[in-house]
Amino acid sequence: MAIYSEEMIQEVINSNDIVDVVSEYVQLKRAGRNYTGLCPFHREKTPSFVVSPDKQIYHCFGCGKGGNVLSFVMDIENLEFVDALQHLANRAGMELKAVDTGYIDRNKDLRERLYSINLEAANYWYTNLYKPTGKVALDYLYNRKLDDNTIKKFGLGYCNNATEMYNYLKSKGFTEEEILKSSLVEKKDTRYVDKFRDRLMFPIIDVRGRIIAFGGRVLNDSKPKYINSPESIIYSKARNLFGLNIAKKEKLDRILIVEGYMDTISLHQRKIPYVVASLGTALTEEQAKLLRKYSSNVVIGYDADGAGQAATLRGLDILTKAGCEVKVLQLDKDDVKDPDEYIIKYGSGRFENLVENAITLVEFKLQLLLKKYDINKIDEKIKFLNEMAVVLASITNEIERDVYVDNISKTTGIGKDPIYAEINKLKLKFTTDLKNVTDNRVLLNQKTIKKDETVIEKTEKYIIYLLLENNSDIYNQIKEKISLDYIQTEKFRNIIKKLFDYYETNNKVKDIVTIFSEEEDINIISSTICLDYNTKGVEKIVNDIYKTLKKNKLEKQKYEILNKLKEENTENKQELELELSKILIDLNKF
Ligand code: UTP
Ligand code: MN
Repeated sequence: MAIYSEEMIQEVINSNDIVDVVSEYVQLKRAGRNYTGLCPFHREKTPSFVVSPDKQIYHCFGCGKGGNVLSFVMDIENLEFVDALQHLANRAGMELKAVDTGYIDRNKDLRERLYSINLEAANYWYTNLYKPTGKVALDYLYNRKLDDNTIKKFGLGYCNNATEMYNYLKSKGFTEEEILKSSLVEKKDTRYVDKFRDRLMFPIIDVRGRIIAFGGRVLNDSKPKYINSPESIIYSKARNLFGLNIAKKEKLDRILIVEGYMDTISLHQRKIPYVVASLGTALTEEQAKLLRKYSSNVVIGYDADGAGQAATLRGLDILTKAGCEVKVLQLDKDDVKDPDEYIIKYGSGRFENLVENAITLVEFKLQLLLKKYDINKIDEKIKFLNEMAVVLASITNEIERDVYVDNISKTTGIGKDPIYAEINKLKLKFTTDLKNVTDNRVLLNQKTIKKDETVIEKTEKYIIYLLLENNSDIYNQIKEKISLDYIQTEKFRNIIKKLFDYYETNNKVKDIVTIFSEEEDINIISSTICLDYNTKGVEKIVNDIYKTLKKNKLEKQKYEILNKLKEENTENKQELELELSKILIDLNKF
């Protein structure tokens, strides 16, 4: 059977306007942005068949059929894919060219080629450092107190302020397609432009030693400080840790996880070999699992600023869930903001001390709450106690808990009794909460959740709708607020995941719906597109969506836990109760 390339298929689709093609079979009437008519696939008296010229897609709200021009022809003419393609090619006066079938393994080969490209580039950039034109970058590194050994070990480099990568890689035998896929070069009109220019280059290397991406830092204070390779078929930011390829060479008793490239490298040079960086994003579950393979003893050493603290809290949560023993590094000096600056100024010995003295979740939480609340004011003291009790109630070991209560009492001057009272109140609240939740009530609440499901589905579809705008700004706003686990409807979640991946790989196609090929997906997409949602004021829309989904998720979790707690002999009762109290606190905010 003949096989046609994506590009070929796309060209055929692009050459056949859906409104024209459908009009050959259905009488269409304009309705706002769309056209409507009587569905040709089922009998109906009032039109529920919609065609969208913007998105080049159709959908029938009566029978659920939908798709693009190609699936329309397949359905209405009852043709196989290839025959429908031929039909549309003829209609547009095009010649269909099949490709040879050697392409099946292309992705695997392409990966290997991309690793090779990255290696070539890294070598090139490394040698640049020691040429006259790279002196400014080498001096920068020396100024940051890195030595030649370290530079070599991490394969650091410098890319000139020039557009030269395309020709260089061409001379090494790579094709245009491979070079563009590497994202080191972008095509602008007819020119090939280097993505990284006049930057220090940090290769990101996976645990198998392959260069999968780069970070590039400016040599001055201009913005953006770093630019990074986009996600690709060889690079997933969420699944890799910077420096792990080097750290894993040692036997690791513990792992210190820091924010930046520079922190990692600086610590390694100063004989702290157990350091990795989470690539500037909040730590992900996948990264936590990856770490866990090497050591379950983890210390978080993020920056001392607000963002770093927030990331620390999330990191604690994710790592604990992944089964790690987690502690938090405290920089005991205010004149430095990250581990790199600390170790340069105060030396390895003192830094190792910090690691030894890293604090636990409870201690970290205590410090945060003491910063957040002024416990000399009575109302703030109450809030402080409320939130602290949640953490304390989670400690199963009573002796350990007593030690903490003792400590807190000493640091805050609050008596031990009120602290215990607060802990007990919390526990009592759980018990009464549980008593109140009879089977009926849980059932009832599950019903309300059911009823809400249409609202949720609509909300989730709204996200799909917005993502289909093929607009990175909209995507960025969505990504910032909404993660995949907020999406309850599995089939929608799958679609949203594909759309997220699409935006992350930075490989724009003209018609975004073409990234979908499964019939079920296409039906959902087409029904979504034909909705007339608002796309103005995206920020507010996204925020509303976020609130709806978040609240719903919390409600669901609440009833899940309550149901679990109702079962007799519930294991890890205390953990569940802690979880529940967190959820109740969060829910209070809505
Ligand atoms: P930092 O701003 O703390 O950078 O960001 P740094 O590594 O300490 O660099 P120096 O010391 O200022 O030279 C931490 C990490 O966040 C990511 C990078 O991975 C960086 O190492 N980041 C930061 C970006 O990806 N882009 C940025 O614009 C900034
Ligand atoms: Mn830094």
